[in-house]
Amino acid sequence: MFSNDTLKGKNILVTGGGSGLGLSMSKAFAKNGANVAICGRSEDKLVAAAEEISKQGAPGTQVLTYTVDVRDYEGVGRMIQTLATEFGELNGLVNNAAGNFLCPSEDLSPNGFKSVVDIVLFGTFNCTQQFGKYLLDNKKPGSILAITTTYTTTGSAYILPSAAGKAAVRAMMNSLAYEWGYAGIRCNCISPGPFPTEGAWARLMPPGMDKIVEDNHPMKRVGEHWELANLATFLMSDMAPYINGGDYVIDGGESLQGSEFNALLSAFSKNMPREQIKAILSAMRKK
Ligand code: COA
Repeated sequence: MFSNDTLKGKNILVTGGGSGLGLSMSKAFAKNGANVAICGRSEDKLVAAAEEISKQGAPGTQVLTYTVDVRDYEGVGRMIQTLATEFGELNGLVNNAAGNFLCPSEDLSPNGFKSVVDIVLFGTFNCTQQFGKYLLDNKKPGSILAITTTYTTTGSAYILPSAAGKAAVRAMMNSLAYEWGYAGIRCNCISPGPFPTEGAWARLMPPGMDKIVEDNHPMKRVGEHWELANLATFLMSDMAPYINGGDYVIDGGESLQGSEFNALLSAFSKNMPREQIKAILSAMRKK
């Protein structure tokens, strides 16, 4: 389906592209012919990731890095202008940067709630609005993707800030799909189920729960990064010009059992006193 010119002429920014799913999508975009920019908070991580992406890129693809915290609105604006200048134009954005951790909701500090919502919701707003302004000012079409979750519609226990923030991101993408559709700006979401990454597994998988994820899963397995990267490639490509305002679940059917962490943590913590659950989650935090 894809070849090394599927994304030719696309210059795509992936937030949080230095690791995890962001890196996997960036590699796929470059392999399929796009120029890719990755941004994140750690320059060293970005430089190492850019090397990996370049190695897999189609001949002639360019890979740029930009160090920024997506919570910094002005900094994000400078990034969009810089990347547009360096590439000649920018026509794709993947809002992948996120923050998350497991915490009993009654123990969340206001700053803990704010930290996640700042990255997930404000970070997505900052990047999306600055990119959208650039596209509208320059009368260019573009594609914006947000990596959300399957629990945007159901909520999910123990990850309240992420559930609230991601649900709002989904509403943001729907709103903009309608508002900016006239300008050829497409806004869509991908809602992944369980795709193991070092960051997510350390933050979201208490010891032993990874087995429960597979046992409870209708396909008895987690997702592989290339599976999600293929969907993202398709949505960012000219093969999907009429896809706007969509939310595409890719979870092997996991969400059919109900809200992701409601179901998983209930199975994991069956018969455990709340204090024991708290102790397990608190021990994870020290890692
Ligand atoms: N449980 C409860 N509270 C937590 C926590 C945890 N596991 N981890 C952080 N917090 C709280 C802190 O205590 C602090 O609140 P306080 O000031 O009231 O004590 C607040 O969150 C901010 O923590 P800090 O580490 O200073 O924030 P940060 O901006 O450096 O990091 C996070 C933001 C917390 C979201 C961090 O996990 C992060 O950077 N994540 C990015 C990567 C990621 O999560 N990817 C998603 C994988 S699925």
